[in-house]
Amino acid sequence: MLDQQTISIIKSTVPVLEKYGTAITTQFYQTLFQKHPELLNIFNHANQKQGRQQTALANVVYAAAVHIEKLETILPAVKQIAHKHRSLGVLPEHYPIVGENLLQAIKDVLGDAATDEIIDAWAKAYGVIADVFISVEKDMYHEAKNQHGGWDGYRHFVVDRKVAESDAITSLYLRPEDGKPLASFKPGQYITVKLQPEGEAYTHLRQYSMSDAPDHDYYRISVKRESGEAGVDGVVSHYLHDAVQPGDILPITAPAGDFILEPISTHPVVLISGGVGITPMVSMLNTIAARQPERSVTFIHAAQNSSVHAFSEHVENLDHKHDSFQSYVCYSDPTDSDRALKRYDKEGWIDAKWLSSVVGETKDANFYFCGPVPFMQSVYHILKSWNLSPEKIHYEFFGPARELVPA
Ligand code: HEM
Repeated sequence: MLDQQTISIIKSTVPVLEKYGTAITTQFYQTLFQKHPELLNIFNHANQKQGRQQTALANVVYAAAVHIEKLETILPAVKQIAHKHRSLGVLPEHYPIVGENLLQAIKDVLGDAATDEIIDAWAKAYGVIADVFISVEKDMYHEAKNQHGGWDGYRHFVVDRKVAESDAITSLYLRPEDGKPLASFKPGQYITVKLQPEGEAYTHLRQYSMSDAPDHDYYRISVKRESGEAGVDGVVSHYLHDAVQPGDILPITAPAGDFILEPISTHPVVLISGGVGITPMVSMLNTIAARQPERSVTFIHAAQNSSVHAFSEHVENLDHKHDSFQSYVCYSDPTDSDRALKRYDKEGWIDAKWLSSVVGETKDANFYFCGPVPFMQSVYHILKSWNLSPEKIHYEFFGPARELVPA
């Protein structure tokens, strides 16, 4: 435990962190990768270039400082990050490296203001925070390895087949090369794929949600061809779309993540997705169709138009087959043929009035949503305005988590 003096110092440096948090973590990553270039095999270069990772780490360090006396307050956030760390293979021996470079970055950015006393206090606090992560992750490694069909680290999977789901999204069906049992997963969870496209100096790790129900003898992921947001080319997604072919091997870590459909509940669910955010939702939908076909599901999907609308036929078929399923489509930019064939229920973004009209009586449902950040901010804002209790609202970010402050 931390002594009272250390706690006071940590708390008094919170305003400084608030001001310099992102500068410190930016500096931290620079020195970390200079001294330990091997870590570039683990970190996502695209997120680094966009500054998203720096902000995410700064937020957590800041939150930990605020709650240093009661770290259990941030345990849900720790678990979500620990799932990601476990899935990426972050190990206890990595923590001192990160700690040393974080402290160095604090010194570099704050200069003389970073007295020995402040640095000592932060060294102790980092130790406490790191121990919490290491212990949570230890349990997760144990579980991933020891569950039926589970494994440690990377396991080789064969790409069984590739199926185009839309102009932008392609599914890959993956089977374990060793032919042994395959761990089940909870709908909403993801896996990490390790790739090294030709000409790339480091391996790239990418996380993809499972897009089908568990209980098959394969995993399915559905990958969007990224256009290269903020000047970063989607090296990995292009590689998976264009270079990877059936018969190729992909190393994969065991399923992870805490954005999951509550399996035992019979409560109505509303699944809302934008773009490729449809992948975990289809996994949830297929699981309900297989295990609880009488459960009420409202499936809402927003896309630009039919050309990039994945799984449309599949969802429509389930809607026809199950009386308890309702599906709705919103297109922001429908094509002429979308208009002619009335392929959508709403033109434009999801808004409060429309959502209320389709969700109707099931406002007490459990809501799950995933999609681009502005989409998520807008959906979150609507659900908050309905005063739903927080445990009914579930969401997942693709990429580093952010604050969901309404736009
Ligand atoms: C991701 C915090 C230690 C490697 C993250 C995220 C946060 C975070 C907030 C973003 C999670 C998200 O995507 O929503 C921390 C804290 C640490 C710590 C507070 C120390 C107490 C480490 C260590 C390593 C590591 C020791 C290994 C060298 C990573 C990687 C990612 C990540 C590779 C994914 C980022 C990406 O590639 O985009 N961490 N982390 N972290 N962390 Fe940590």
